[in-house]
Amino acid sequence: MVMRVDIVTIFPDMVRGFAREGIVARAHERGVVDLAVHDLRDFTTDKHRVVDDSPFGGGPGMVLKPEPFFRAMAHIRATRGEPSAVIVPGPQGRPFTHDAAVAWSRAGHIVLLCGRYEGIDERVVEALATDEISIGDYVLSGGELAAMVVADAVVRQVPGVVGDARSVSEDSFARPWLDHPHYTRPAEWEGRRVPDVLLSGHHAQVARWRLRTALERTLDRRPDLLEGPGFPGEAGIDAERTLREIRAERQGIRPGRKERKQES
Ligand code: ADE
Repeated sequence: MVMRVDIVTIFPDMVRGFAREGIVARAHERGVVDLAVHDLRDFTTDKHRVVDDSPFGGGPGMVLKPEPFFRAMAHIRATRGEPSAVIVPGPQGRPFTHDAAVAWSRAGHIVLLCGRYEGIDERVVEALATDEISIGDYVLSGGELAAMVVADAVVRQVPGVVGDARSVSEDSFARPWLDHPHYTRPAEWEGRRVPDVLLSGHHAQVARWRLRTALERTLDRRPDLLEGPGFPGEAGIDAERTLREIRAERQGIRPGRKERKQES
């Protein structure tokens, strides 16, 4: 089954550039994913192909008009079939997550409607969208970059897109902690050596080192993941024990700020 992805935008060239290279292009070549980019202006009916207008109620900026989006959706339904999800990226959306990427990769057909300027007419969201998502707590100038982020994350979850399925199942967020560090040849570069254990050929030791370094950086950078409902997941006992060891060591060797203050 071919996964369909439709992206509606006023900057089609920006999205086509993305679709021409990398993972999405490869998925397209392999016939696993069929990505189509639609220019919102093609769905206007006036001579000047106007897609925006000033906001009711006043205020700065422009709002994308509803009609072109409704026509674009009708065109997509007629020519590409009924989508399972119509996604509007925007800073007001729910956070986009790995779980959503996996779910949409199984949906068969998704549509992404990109907004610009101050926003999209709310009736587009009400009547057409199944989901509004944000890719982070910052404001982009438009939905295109977010749509490409979503398309990339979704497409790599489609079976057969990423060569080695392990790359996908071992991704950070496929498991409830961050990925471990990676190294390749040469074993020494400008005085920096690859950790000996990785050159040792001891698979069990390599696995332990990877789990440990992964948990260490998760504890440093994203401790929230270790408190989340997904932890410890499948690698349960090993992960919990390793985390306990790391915490115990850190308490002994690297006192927190409070303890250091008390000592001095
Ligand atoms: N459009 C503008 N900002 C965005 C964000 N943070 N996420 C998704 N779409 C956006």
